[in-house]
Amino acid sequence: MSLRSLINLRILLSVILILMLGGAIAIWQARQSVERELQSSFHLVLQMVKSEVGQADMSRGNDDWLQSIKALRHLRHVQVSLIDEHDTVTEILTVSEREESRRPPTWFMVAVTTDYLEAEYPLKMPDGSVQRIKISADPSDEISEAWSESQTYFWSVVLMMGVIFLAINMVFHSMLRAVGTILSGLRQVESGEYNGKLPSIKIREFDAIAAEINNLSEALSHARQNNQSLARHTLHIQESERRHLSRELHDEMGQSLTAVKAMAVASKHSDADVPGIADSIIGICNHLSGVVRSMMRTLHPLSLADLGLGATLTDLVGEYRRRHPGLVVMLDYDDSLELLSHEVAIHVYRIVQECLTNVIRHARADSVEVTVMRSRFDDDQVVINIEDNGIGGQAEGEGFGVRAMRERVENLGGCFSFESETDQGVSVKASMPFIEKQQDESRQD
Ligand SMILES: Nc1ncnc2c1ncn2[C@@H]1O[C@H](COP(=O)(O)OP(=O)(O)OP(=O)(O)O)[C@@H](O)[C@H]1O
Ligand SMILES: [Mg+2]
Repeated sequence: MSLRSLINLRILLSVILILMLGGAIAIWQARQSVERELQSSFHLVLQMVKSEVGQADMSRGNDDWLQSIKALRHLRHVQVSLIDEHDTVTEILTVSEREESRRPPTWFMVAVTTDYLEAEYPLKMPDGSVQRIKISADPSDEISEAWSESQTYFWSVVLMMGVIFLAINMVFHSMLRAVGTILSGLRQVESGEYNGKLPSIKIREFDAIAAEINNLSEALSHARQNNQSLARHTLHIQESERRHLSRELHDEMGQSLTAVKAMAVASKHSDADVPGIADSIIGICNHLSGVVRSMMRTLHPLSLADLGLGATLTDLVGEYRRRHPGLVVMLDYDDSLELLSHEVAIHVYRIVQECLTNVIRHARADSVEVTVMRSRFDDDQVVINIEDNGIGGQAEGEGFGVRAMRERVENLGGCFSFESETDQGVSVKASMPFIEKQQDESRQD
């Protein structure tokens, strides 16, 4: 069932309930007021009849009392009649004036009618006969009045409910329009269409939701652009790594192998300096194994699986110390790193590698401190802290290194921060879940 139908149904049920309750109260009030009115009129007439008839001198044929009673003819709600000894009404002394058109329906008459008062007063006539004056309450015109009041009440409730119904429907109409707009916005986001903006909505609460959806689309669009540029950068790096490897293979391996081959050919001559040639070949082989090790480290730190994270980081730091003797690189790690799963260890390694590369490229620092350990406060986390004493003051900029580090950490559900103060160096902090090696992973190692 739609929201609109549900609301309309509820309002209709409420109106019916209010009308039924209101109707019952109106009938009860009408009944009470008819009874009160009739009682007061009845007692007034009874008193007047008693006093007029009591003072009258019947024996002289004086009928002043009769005129006085007839003068009550316009009094509403009470009927006075004369009844003879045979219970026959000989004269009706007062007549209530009724408007036939205002006659209420029978069910209403039944609902408000109760037992009404009646009284008889004996009267000795000049001719010696005994008649009775009968006074009886006549509720018909009071009931007519109550009926017309009830009708007014009924129609005012109907009118009021109509107005409320209309007002609620108008509010719901604009709310449902706003919901429609928000739904279309969400569908756009779902289908990856992040550029369309939701218009502002007059209802403040819905406007806040629309604004949040706009912010969400903006954030998603930003994330998509980031991902696309990271993917492009990854492809670019892949290509440049391949170029670099093919150059290394060509320049180093090709030339070295040619040299080894030439030396082997030369050694065949009878007058060849075989020990000297052998020394040269050993030197070339040493150089080649250095080149191959460096190429393998670039491709993947194999020692991570063989030696563990601590030793691999020590090897990496050693390489930087060798290549940049002017830079003091300090490394601090604890033994618990050996328990770290390969999945997290490779991220730790790459983050340290990128930070050291950045220090060399941008920092102009003379010392950098690398700390990697299991958190002292939360042993479910591994924390990395890399601080240099370089120029600092540089924003993350448009580079990919910092962005990729952040992605690595956040994809694992960790936290990353890059703080750079002028002349205070750069401080990179990351914490990631300490996922321990599985049994089978340890065995593979
Ligand atoms: N240790 C540092 N000292 C000073 N500035 C730094 C340091 N590390 C990073 N930066 C600044 O942050 C910027 C972003 O670094 P990021 O590593 O993302 O990019 P990059 O090194 O320029 O390029 P790449 O995408 O190849 O890594 C750098 O251009 C530099 O200005
Ligand atoms: Mg970088």
